[in-house]
Amino acid sequence: MTRKETPRQATLAWAADIHLDHAGPAKSEAFIRALADAAPDAVLLGGDISVGCDVVDDVQRIARATGRPVHFVMGNHDYWGWSVSGAHSVLSRLRGPDVHWLPAVGCVEVAEGVGLVGHGGWGDARHGDLLNSDVVLNDYVHIKELEEVFVHTPDTWELEGQEALVARLQQLGADAASVLEPALHTAASLYTQVIVLTHVPPFPAATFRGGSLLGEAYLHGYCCGAVGEALERVARSRRGTDFTVLCGHTHGEGRAEIRENLVVLNGEAKYGHPRFRLLQAAREGIELLNEAGAPALAGDEA
Ligand SMILES: [Fe+2]
Ligand SMILES: [Fe+2]
Repeated sequence: MTRKETPRQATLAWAADIHLDHAGPAKSEAFIRALADAAPDAVLLGGDISVGCDVVDDVQRIARATGRPVHFVMGNHDYWGWSVSGAHSVLSRLRGPDVHWLPAVGCVEVAEGVGLVGHGGWGDARHGDLLNSDVVLNDYVHIKELEEVFVHTPDTWELEGQEALVARLQQLGADAASVLEPALHTAASLYTQVIVLTHVPPFPAATFRGGSLLGEAYLHGYCCGAVGEALERVARSRRGTDFTVLCGHTHGEGRAEIRENLVVLNGEAKYGHPRFRLLQAAREGIELLNEAGAPALAGDEA
């Protein structure tokens, strides 16, 4: 729990799926400069920041350049090339006043009456039907815990050992929910507005892409059912608190109202064009200050 002097109303820069590895140095620098120029009270990075362990350098670089606290969660691409356990071990030891991996810090006060919690979540195979889907994520060969149970032939992507993969993904989702749920309760006991930063949409109704929702064939990889269940449980029992979930992963723009006090915003993203949006956060509510203008996307893996 982190509490400092906080503004009555905060301006937050929220960036989903910036994929700096696709942007290259010049566009990355321009993006970071624009963030600094916007002078938000804090920066929220919703995963797929870069690829693999570059994420650590990138979040620290953004904190240094902007002079603002950076609160972040991991996206699936951020785990590529290393293991989930190894990544979490490194991230748990991150020190410094301006870089906060939200699963390790629990709850951060960002404005009077407004708390922030988060976890990136996983496409956790609770929705959809992985066993009968042709949709295969690169995560299954780039992340150690998934690669070790995913047997495939490179030419056909023929799946074997699918049930072990489903079990592993469901466990990762359960792990995410078990970290997030107590933080949600803590935040709800202290704040009337709670921002939940995540990567994977927690509900099928929030899997926006190209102006519509993803179909059944994609949901195993693009929805975190365990986090969704935790959010619904907490929102149902904490009716005096409004929960605003910020997610990404599907790269499509959208807003889904799950309950009266539980709203999910998905941030549009495009490879090679990192962007951010500004939010105004106060105890009266969370408001998007600028709308995304880029065209809807199709065809890129999130
Ligand atoms: Fe993603
Ligand atoms: Fe992404």
